[in-house]
Amino acid sequence: MKGAALLFLVPGALAIQLPFEIPSFFKAKSAILQNVMEEVPTLHSRVAIIGAGAGGSSAAFWIGKAKERYGLDVEIDVYDKESYVGGRSTTVYPHNDTSLRPIELGASIFVKANKNMWRASEEFNLTRRTFKDEDYETGIWDGEQFILTFGGSWWDTLKVLWRYGINAPRKTQSAVNSMIDSYLALYTKDTPRWDRVEDVSTALGFESLVASTTSEYLLSKGVSANYISEVVEAATRVNYAQDTDAIHALEGACSMAADNAAGIAGGNWQVFDEFLKRSGANVYLNTPVTSITPKGRKWTVKSARGSETYKAVILAAPFHQTAIQVPQAIQEQIPEQPYINLHVTLLSTTASSPNASYFGLPEGTKVPNFVLTSRAGARKGGKEPEFNSLSYHGPIRDGEWTVKIFSMQTVTDEWLEKVFSGSVGWVYRKEWKAYPKLPPTTTFPPVKLDNGFYYVNSFEPFISTMETETISSRNVVDLFLNEHFQTGICGSNIAASPEAPNDTTPASKAVPEDDSLIYGWDC
Ligand SMILES: Cc1cc2nc3c(=O)[nH]c(=O)nc-3n(C[C@H](O)[C@H](O)[C@H](O)COP(=O)(O)OP(=O)(O)OC[C@H]3O[C@@H](n4cnc5c(N)ncnc54)[C@H](O)[C@@H]3O)c2cc1C
Ligand SMILES: *[C@@H]1O[C@H](CO)[C@@H](O)[C@H](O)[C@H]1NC(C)=O
Ligand SMILES: *[C@@H]1O[C@H](CO)[C@@H](O)[C@H](O)[C@H]1NC(C)=O
Ligand SMILES: *[C@@H]1O[C@H](CO)[C@@H](O)[C@H](O)[C@H]1NC(C)=O
Ligand SMILES: *[C@@H]1O[C@H](CO)[C@@H](O)[C@H](O)[C@H]1NC(C)=O
Repeated sequence: MKGAALLFLVPGALAIQLPFEIPSFFKAKSAILQNVMEEVPTLHSRVAIIGAGAGGSSAAFWIGKAKERYGLDVEIDVYDKESYVGGRSTTVYPHNDTSLRPIELGASIFVKANKNMWRASEEFNLTRRTFKDEDYETGIWDGEQFILTFGGSWWDTLKVLWRYGINAPRKTQSAVNSMIDSYLALYTKDTPRWDRVEDVSTALGFESLVASTTSEYLLSKGVSANYISEVVEAATRVNYAQDTDAIHALEGACSMAADNAAGIAGGNWQVFDEFLKRSGANVYLNTPVTSITPKGRKWTVKSARGSETYKAVILAAPFHQTAIQVPQAIQEQIPEQPYINLHVTLLSTTASSPNASYFGLPEGTKVPNFVLTSRAGARKGGKEPEFNSLSYHGPIRDGEWTVKIFSMQTVTDEWLEKVFSGSVGWVYRKEWKAYPKLPPTTTFPPVKLDNGFYYVNSFEPFISTMETETISSRNVVDLFLNEHFQTGICGSNIAASPEAPNDTTPASKAVPEDDSLIYGWDC
């Protein structure tokens, strides 16, 4: 962790330009620095952010925080080709009726360990919905039969213990908990900082998790093969549409980290909307960026608005999906990154649960209304499940429910009629490039594409969630601020340098050293 933390703590670089207020202890210590300060005019800088999803909106927010704290003169332009803020986090209304409760079309949940999302919901007065009390019956379907059904909360049930023994859930949970413990270092003031994702992986001790499949890793921890291919796989398939023998173990562990799951009532995109509003950024929707080219020590961003020149560019979208032209030398550095083509089907139905005969059950049997899937049967030559997950999402009005289906192919009208006993109302289909394919790996895309050109989505092949995009953007903004203003979001990067005294930074004095400090928010 220390190695990574030293990344951009280059004390020598301090003597360049400091258009922000130097922490007072530093002023006292460095007369030279003070002299430099007096001669440096305040610089006006412009930054372009491409993408108004979790990554781009939070990048703007972090820059906004630094502006507030250090009086940096940075103008932020955020571009998105779509007409809405949120990217892969967006909602639609059943029946396209705005008086009904909207439903998430993309990212729907985050957990309490996702401290930026949690904190944002609190500070922005957004209401969190928890999924605890939605005690639907859950079933794990393998394409031919339900391997397991259980009510209410997940693995805490006797049925699970009975089928897999007490050790499998316990050992899995312990692997997940230890992952979360390491992960939480990302919110401390000593958080690793990185210009290579490989370095943060090392700093957090995640190398072996990312380098093995979920099944290899859990087998090595003594978890039984059945539990992995049935229960853990239900989680990796609903969260990432990938099986335990394909997805790396870090993302596998994230799939199992479902404690205190929540979503924002009315839509998670509201967090990103608030990020943008609070950042003071100019937001240009319906404005695809078509090229990014160097111009002296700056960058020219071409879009429907014309050509604009920026000190720095933050790319917060998966590069290969943007169709943005960049210099050959930059393009060559970014490895092709396949994404999962996920079909999301939202519908309304008057059937209170799916049709029993589709699931090979006697007419009249109540089918679980939260159906997860596993390829355990297909691996032994059985039928593939025709979908990844099928979940009821509460009544939209009396006697009518919304349902969300994730699948790898289009779900046809005929199939819906069969599964919902001919009582389908509204249907909405969306094909997403949802998340990267996440095989085990030891290498990642570059965080820094060039001087002043940063790539937030380099983090996605490591972990792909709303929250981790806000962490990646925070790191990128810290990098940018260090390179151009010799400060960070918390300024404390300077204070944390090897030549600075211990624990005398204004930040660590102002905030108690406990779990409640969240780097970037509290400093
Ligand atoms: C169905 C589904 C379910 C998911 N479930 C969860 C979940 O429960 N929890 C969770 O945390 N995550 C979930 N995810 C993943 C999560 O959505 C992503 O990890 C996260 O939202 C990515 O944010 P981002 O800002 O990096 O990218 P995006 O949200 O993709 O934002 C990129 C933005 O860039 C814009 N853009 C692209 N090209 C250009 C261009 N040339 N010019 C201008 N703008 C451009 C796009 O329009 C887009 O708005 C889910 C994803 C999907 C699809
Ligand atoms: C939904 O309603 C809005 C506003 O009335 C309308 O502009 C839009 O075209 C509708 N969308 C669909 C899919 O019907
Ligand atoms: C949030 O809500 C509380 C209680 O309703 C209110 O006192 C507070 O001012 C609100 N804060 C913001 C930022 O809107
Ligand atoms: C379920 O589907 C079967 C076969 O298509 C059909 O005969 C049966 O009536 C359906 N059940 C209900 C409750 O509609
Ligand atoms: C920093 O703290 C450590 C441990 O408390 C101590 O050994 C070291 O001398 C301190 N360094 C400075 C520069 O004060």
